[in-house]
Amino acid sequence: MMGDPNIIRFPVLGSTNDHLNDVHADVDDMTIIVAGRQTRGRGRFGREWVSDDGGLWFSVLVRHDDPEHAFLLTFAAAVSVAEAIRKAAPGLEPKIKWPNDVLIGQKKVCGILTENVIGGRGRGSGCDSIVGIGLNVNNDPPLDTSTSLSHELDRELDLTAILDSFVLVFSRYREDFRRRDYRRIIDGWKVFWGSAGKQVHISTVHGDLDGIAEDIADDGSLIIRSGGEVSSDVEKVQVLEGDLILPE
Ligand code: BTN
Repeated sequence: MMGDPNIIRFPVLGSTNDHLNDVHADVDDMTIIVAGRQTRGRGRFGREWVSDDGGLWFSVLVRHDDPEHAFLLTFAAAVSVAEAIRKAAPGLEPKIKWPNDVLIGQKKVCGILTENVIGGRGRGSGCDSIVGIGLNVNNDPPLDTSTSLSHELDRELDLTAILDSFVLVFSRYREDFRRRDYRRIIDGWKVFWGSAGKQVHISTVHGDLDGIAEDIADDGSLIIRSGGEVSSDVEKVQVLEGDLILPE
């Protein structure tokens, strides 16, 4: 079921996620589509993702039959990026902001957008997850709230070496996922978790929430301890999708 990574490169694509979405039924597990730049890069919640030359823009196909836990593939990708950064730039201390942003200091260096195609041609109840990763490497940081590795280090880095490190680490987590060993992924992720035990503000489709980021559940949801508004009891809330805003 698990394939060897197969990296396919394009100088320019609209979006590596869109491209993989178009071809996913005809390619193998662990096919990786890389673009030199993207003209229609997409972020979470339909946001634009600026993808000029010099960044690492790629999408990985993971074929599996465990859609309830597909969220954890995003976690696996975030840890793999953090480890690849640590290897390429030992001076930098990457942190992960739940669920999937990789930060250097308070600034975002990488975002991940996972899209799941359930069923699909000849796939029965299987799931093709398209894990799209955008890492600012030698490009200028596109926003005040973002950074790039070269901006932090004052030197350019080798994109191929970073991608190779990512693939090595991600392949191991992909195998954990296949064996349904979710704890290994979450524990790996927690090594880089920046908000453990800290006060956080989170904005979700159901409203905003303040509390202490306490733990991560087996499905990847964030467990927050917050003082209830109605009663004064301390309650625990689990959030599966939202935007986490860190205090300044
Ligand atoms: C986010 O933080 O909002 C997620 C950003 C994901 C960007 C990557 S770049 C490669 C892949 N192709 C896309 O269009 N988006 C993802």
